[in-house]
Amino acid sequence: MTRVAILGAGPSGLAQLRAFASAATDGTEIPDLVCYEKQEDWGGLWNYTWRTGVDEYGEPVHGSMYRYLWSNGPKECLEFADYSFEEHFGKPIASYPPREVLWDYIKGRVEKSKVRDQIRFRTPVRNVSYDDVTGQFTVTAHDLKVGTVSSEEFDYVVVATGHFSVPNVPHYPGFEKFLGRILHAHDFRDAVEFADKDILIVGASYSAEDIGSQCHKYGARHIYCTSRAGTMGFDWPDNWEEFPILTHVDGNTVHFADGQTRDVQAIILCTGYLHHFPFMPDELRLETKNRLWTPGLYKGVAWEQNPKLFYLGMQDQYYTFNMFDAQAWWARDVMLGRIELPSTAKMAADSAGWLEREEALETAYEEIDFQGDYTQDLVDATDYPDFNIAEVNRMFKEWKGHKNADIMGYRNLGFPSTLTGTVAPSHHTPWMEAMDDSMETYLLDEAPDGGG
Ligand SMILES: Cc1cc2nc3c(=O)[nH]c(=O)nc-3n(C[C@H](O)[C@H](O)[C@H](O)COP(=O)(O)OP(=O)(O)OC[C@H]3O[C@@H](n4cnc5c(N)ncnc54)[C@H](O)[C@@H]3O)c2cc1C
Ligand SMILES: NC(=O)c1ccc[n+]([C@@H]2O[C@H](COP(=O)([O-])OP(=O)(O)OC[C@H]3O[C@@H](n4cnc5c(N)ncnc54)[C@H](OP(=O)(O)O)[C@@H]3O)[C@@H](O)[C@H]2O)c1
Repeated sequence: MTRVAILGAGPSGLAQLRAFASAATDGTEIPDLVCYEKQEDWGGLWNYTWRTGVDEYGEPVHGSMYRYLWSNGPKECLEFADYSFEEHFGKPIASYPPREVLWDYIKGRVEKSKVRDQIRFRTPVRNVSYDDVTGQFTVTAHDLKVGTVSSEEFDYVVVATGHFSVPNVPHYPGFEKFLGRILHAHDFRDAVEFADKDILIVGASYSAEDIGSQCHKYGARHIYCTSRAGTMGFDWPDNWEEFPILTHVDGNTVHFADGQTRDVQAIILCTGYLHHFPFMPDELRLETKNRLWTPGLYKGVAWEQNPKLFYLGMQDQYYTFNMFDAQAWWARDVMLGRIELPSTAKMAADSAGWLEREEALETAYEEIDFQGDYTQDLVDATDYPDFNIAEVNRMFKEWKGHKNADIMGYRNLGFPSTLTGTVAPSHHTPWMEAMDDSMETYLLDEAPDGGG
């Protein structure tokens, strides 16, 4: 029987399991599936951990999410096309749910598919190799609970281990003697720690914007941001200042390229993540920056030099859950023989066209359209439900406008579901005042006594 190894049970790996489960319900004979997951539970980054550094088994902690994290894009843009939020929660909910609510939604779909038995939890993959003679992969994994390392053979491998877990940690002169705490966003867990403090945020992307906003919300005194790219361009609160890149640190004093200085007690490096696959051999390892087109992957998914290997979710992301689904459905259909792959040269030529277009992108609107077109291309090739991608693109653009108009208030607005047409209701409490982000409080129809 054909065997498929799926590495990781986050949204991407679970999409692969769901894709096969969906084919099985139509009577299709599906391969033997083994999903290896290094954490105790499923959901990937959405499975919050308080731990930082290494876990109880000495494994690097995967989680980069923090307390009070709310979705930074409207949930209507990521909604699974085969499982609406309304179906899951039994009622319409607001557009920007906190982490626990999204985790519940992710889990609900796969619980219904009964795929949990296919996952080996607490089993990190240590090594993958390919044998040209047998045409098979060998996957070596460590069962941490039993304490054994063993290997099995597979016909296909799907790498879905994520790429927002291993931090990119730059050095600036003076860090060694900084009189405070320096941490990367990966290790940020609770903004309350920075209440009444002056902090420096390094970087100008989503983590910088959101971790700075969390720290403001939970009482930081001053938020100073520094980046190479220029300002983030939002209308920040009065206790917030943006600076050009720092040059060095002297004691508690940060020096910026324009000669200005500020004193801070903590530095948070929101400097992004590395694509890191230490378990892959050189000839099969994806090497890429965080970008919208990942060179070497046909349709952004299949390893061109050996398309029995797939990578899911490796692009920079406007689209997330529904794009991972589209990728997983496409990879499934290649593995089931429903999609025939062209020659290596034709795959490379197709990828070159996407790469050329990606390199010419200039605006965020163009980037959104690009990822929408890419997702549509995959949806068109499979039986994944054809959700309204033009409408999702429109919502992403509107979301950009909302952020520019009110960076602390954009999460109070609602969007329509492309599946049900329902416009999301307002949440019972404005985001800036909602200090309790638990699912229990979030799902109440009215603010609890004492506020949400
Ligand atoms: C701080 C933060 C906030 C985010 N917020 C949003 C948001 O609001 N909305 C949104 O749509 N997206 C958000 N994202 C993007 C996020 O990348 C996706 O939502 C999603 O989690 C990606 O799913 P994935 O399965 O590809 O990767 P992951 O979620 O990273 O899951 C990968 C899984 O692989 C497992 N794994 C890793 N290595 C191994 C190994 N060697 N062997 C076995 N298992 C392994 C991990 O334990 C993990 O369970 C956020 C990302 C970050 C970092
Ligand atoms: N739900 C939420 O609210 C939330 C919160 C946080 C993150 N996220 C998600 O997490 C993902 C990752 O976002 P991210 O912001 O961590 O990573 P990212 O988008 O890859 O951005 C990395 C940032 O680090 C900067 N940087 C890199 N190296 C640097 C250096 N040596 N010195 C100074 N700056 C440096 C980059 O600046 P340059 O342009 O100069 O390279 C860029 O601003 C995204 O998908 C995002 O949506 C979501």
